[in-house]
Amino acid sequence: MQKLALKIRKTQTIGFVPTMGFLHAGHLSLVTAAKKACDVVIASIFVNPTQFGPKEDLSRYPRDEKGDLAKLRAAGCDFVFLPRADEVYPPDFQTYVTVETVSQALCGASRPGHFRGVATVVAKLFNLTQPSTAFFGLKDYQQVQVIKAMVRDLAMPVKIQALATVREADGLAMSSRNKYLSSEERILALGISEGLKAAKALAGKARPSATQLVTAFKQALAKHPDIRIDYIDVRDAQTLEPLKTYLPRRTLMAAAVFVGKTRLIDNMVF
Ligand code: PAJ
Repeated sequence: MQKLALKIRKTQTIGFVPTMGFLHAGHLSLVTAAKKACDVVIASIFVNPTQFGPKEDLSRYPRDEKGDLAKLRAAGCDFVFLPRADEVYPPDFQTYVTVETVSQALCGASRPGHFRGVATVVAKLFNLTQPSTAFFGLKDYQQVQVIKAMVRDLAMPVKIQALATVREADGLAMSSRNKYLSSEERILALGISEGLKAAKALAGKARPSATQLVTAFKQALAKHPDIRIDYIDVRDAQTLEPLKTYLPRRTLMAAAVFVGKTRLIDNMVF
């Protein structure tokens, strides 16, 4: 992969889209953007073991290699990199990337080690695919902040392009994990986007406190019982520091919930 990428890079720009597969329209929007901005598009499909906790869904993470390749081809992707876990992490592997401050809150607090795994694999994938620009989705808002900090702090010659969350018609953010939901849970899962919409509507009217935003979210969520909240948080969209009062266009509301056994995340900046 690296030999090929270094050769391409001599004459053309490379756009890179890292994924864990089981692709949906959210992933494909990144490929489309990469195709527009760069000469050659490389996507990777790798279910990265180091970003999963010991009790998480690594072994049952959904896979569909054949379907993914067809979708990537149709979206205009030029190369797909599908490394094996023992190639990415041979037995003597011992180097990890830790991004400190922005990894700590939100998903970093509920998934210890998660962003260390993400930063490590993304750094390695950047070295293997040599992108001039890499494309990420804002559905994983904190992940984008972690990658941006890593690229800045380690002076990696890669531009990070972040793209809007692609949603189902009813508002549910697209996610490979939506596949785990039963038809009943699929309806319950709407609570998360409805909670965000309710908070956003409140922010449009007044200058609410973070507590009022969280209350608006919880009231909307209460219409969908049996959802267990992992976190609901209001943060400065640029620094991820806690925010006490709504700041126009700089307020990140992020949530993670369990619908049955499935952990779903979503966020909005408003
Ligand atoms: P994965 O969850 O497969 O997502 C790959 C990319 O697609 C990420 O940048 C993610 O933010 C983006 N994405 C997912 N759902 C989206 C949606 N509904 N709208 C827009 N973009 C969406 O994120 C990962 O994989 C991994 O952590 C990875 C970066 C590949 C490192 O292992």
